[in-house]
Amino acid sequence: MADNPKRTVLLGLTGGIAAYKAAELARLLIQDGFTVQAVMTAAATRFVTPATLQALTGRPVHTDLWDASVPNSMAHIDLSRDADLILVAPASADFLAKLAGGLADDLLSTLCLARDCPLMVAPAMNRQMWERAATRRNIATLEKDGVTILGPASGDQACGETGMGRMIEPDALLQAVRGFFQPKVLEGRRVLITAGPTFEAVDPVRGITNRSSGKMGYAIARAALDAGARVTLVSGPVSLAPPAGAKSVNVVSAAEMFDAVKKEVKDADVFIGVAAVADYRPVKASGEKIKKTRGHVTLELTRNPDILEYVAGRPKPPFCVGFAAESEDLERYAQEKRKKKNVPLLAANLAQTAIGGDENELILFDDDGRHELARAPKEVIARQLVEHIAALYAEQQSARHRKG
Ligand code: C5P
Repeated sequence: MADNPKRTVLLGLTGGIAAYKAAELARLLIQDGFTVQAVMTAAATRFVTPATLQALTGRPVHTDLWDASVPNSMAHIDLSRDADLILVAPASADFLAKLAGGLADDLLSTLCLARDCPLMVAPAMNRQMWERAATRRNIATLEKDGVTILGPASGDQACGETGMGRMIEPDALLQAVRGFFQPKVLEGRRVLITAGPTFEAVDPVRGITNRSSGKMGYAIARAALDAGARVTLVSGPVSLAPPAGAKSVNVVSAAEMFDAVKKEVKDADVFIGVAAVADYRPVKASGEKIKKTRGHVTLELTRNPDILEYVAGRPKPPFCVGFAAESEDLERYAQEKRKKKNVPLLAANLAQTAIGGDENELILFDDDGRHELARAPKEVIARQLVEHIAALYAEQQSARHRKG
């Protein structure tokens, strides 16, 4: 991000109760290093004050097309030229109608019409308004015009009703903005990712699993999408929402994960095995709940297939990336694993840090040696890893071309 010169977001607020969430969004964007220029419609100022946005963004907030303090009276042109992205959040039904019709009767609608940068909108309205034929038509028009529609989500509404129309959360909007600025280093590539734990049934209510949360794999899926890839995410049981835009395949056991990967891998350019796949499963899962007995119970286990080894061993394998979580002697085990599984890139982390938490640190092992990704939130690590994978993948492709 730091080396991306285009980083000014014009944040437009229109009149809706979700405007209070736009204040949080402004804070998140600023914290992430963006310059944020807020522009509010008159109705938006009924819900939050310009002073709130000014304090959060550190810049005067514009609300008026006829602002006498702008020397050339061209605030709409100047503001839109300074922006790399316009994000209208919340976007009311009325404002979406204006955009779809090309109206320009206040500062925000005028600068949207005068823009020469991409436009994203985060609709927020009552569910009936969202479902109304006029709104459907307006959304279809905006999509056709190349406007990115973020959300809305379903849930409780300020009016007391429940349904589709809530503005998506500030954090999801931040992800969308980050994604927009991400270099498209995997443009058009098909990336298959496994994530999360597996669950090996012992009986109908018990099983063997591990503490993998899926956060690392899901963050990598998000980062790959942001880098322009087409992503398929095969996930064990986790409590995370799949990243919007990915094809998501949910599985439970290692055997199911293996089947799903075998089906999806034919089309993949890159395979990233992040899942913490159980190495063993019970030889036979009991059909009934196992009863308590006085003595010991012996559970016989058998090996699960190694999915990564299978993919790397295919005749024309995709570019394969493995993960290794070790609790000790990280480097030695990781190097051994890279050789044994025959993968060009292995990402090693300490199980104590990696499993379940929000942060991670990785050591990447490839033909050029080792590269450290210092401790950071998993989203940041994921973006760095995706850039590294894209560079190695590009090298591999051009080496293949040279060989003819
Ligand atoms: O051998 P180990 O389980 O430590 O290797 C970890 C790597 O192998 C991870 O990338 C993991 O997703 C993958 N793996 C797999 N199938 C297994 C076991 C591990 O794909 N059965």
